[in-house]
Amino acid sequence: MYLFNSTVLVEPTNICNLKCVMCEARCTVEAGLHEAEYLMPNDFEMILSKLKGYISNVVFQGDCEPTLSPYLEDLVRIAKKYTEQIAIVTNGMALTPERTRSLVGSGINWFAISIDDYRAEVYNSKRKYADFNRLMTNLDYIIKLRNEKEHSLYIVTHKIVFPENTTDDLIHYIRYFYQEKGVNKITFAPLVCEGNIEDENWLIKRNLLENEMISQNVHINLKDFANYPYMVNYKYCGTNLFFISHEGNFAPCGLHTRDKKIFGNLITENLEDIVKKREFLEYHEYWHNRQFDKNAPNICENCYLLRSPYFKYCLDDSFESTNSIYENNN
Ligand SMILES: C[S@@+](CC[C@H](N)C(=O)[O-])C[C@H]1O[C@@H](n2cnc3c(N)ncnc32)[C@H](O)[C@@H]1O
Ligand code: SF4
Ligand code: SF4
Repeated sequence: MYLFNSTVLVEPTNICNLKCVMCEARCTVEAGLHEAEYLMPNDFEMILSKLKGYISNVVFQGDCEPTLSPYLEDLVRIAKKYTEQIAIVTNGMALTPERTRSLVGSGINWFAISIDDYRAEVYNSKRKYADFNRLMTNLDYIIKLRNEKEHSLYIVTHKIVFPENTTDDLIHYIRYFYQEKGVNKITFAPLVCEGNIEDENWLIKRNLLENEMISQNVHINLKDFANYPYMVNYKYCGTNLFFISHEGNFAPCGLHTRDKKIFGNLITENLEDIVKKREFLEYHEYWHNRQFDKNAPNICENCYLLRSPYFKYCLDDSFESTNSIYENNN
């Protein structure tokens, strides 16, 4: 029935506390304009029980700032019944020492914090309503907690690479967060602008950067293109997962829910009924049986992943397959 252990990406709410200049998420409105909606713990419990047996890890993210859900700790405790691997992708502004301890105490062990620059003025100019100095205080506390007590915590800083970023900027970023502060991992992803990767040369830039760092005896792995681990037994588009929106909508990645292209709703429908739907079967038959000479399934139509040479690389498949997917979608 085309279900296998996967990452479950969960959107706990529809609101955000920032208005970042580059963000294309649905929550990108002036703080407070949206009526807040939350994924409720009892609904989440039901959703995960329907996916039981197929959950390898849970990541709280989505088109929102997950820490704004007052139910987040409850959601984390529910997730913990199904997996030990629980991550959060956050802008980090609400991570006071108390909140960080409470999230770690509930079961989060992977923090991916979106920090786009090591220079306060550049960071603040991208992330409206954020404050670099406060964010550094929050980050320093998580690092201290990991060093002194919670040794299994894994801390990632994730940077959007903007076209104006030079190799020197990126080297400084690595020095500041990886070498000086001591985060476990840095991930870089190119800016997506109206569904397009702006910097065509990003891969070349990144590989040169990795080589440069190795020549300086800093063996950093910059290959991952997302800020959290994908865990899936089958190789699909590169981001294949179970995405659950705050309304309980079920889709294979976070992109679909923006235009309401979903497989179904896991609060109101049974999984057995969802997996019989045409959209679900068409999607899996294309990716699972690698029908790359055909057009992409309806649910993936217009995905920037399939249109960009960078993501052609992320698809990580044969020369023929990647070319054929790319040509059929351009
Ligand atoms: C939509 S945010 C949600 C989580 C949280 N609010 C945050 O900012 O980390 C998820 C990720 O998308 C990244 N992002 C936002 N806008 C982007 C863009 N235009 N291009 C590439 N990544 C983007 C953010 O930096 C973040 O790492
Ligand atoms: S904090 Fe995250 S979700 Fe909010 S506007 Fe910025 S990138 Fe978008
Ligand atoms: S829309 Fe794109 S990212 Fe989402 S599943 Fe399809 S190919 Fe993958």
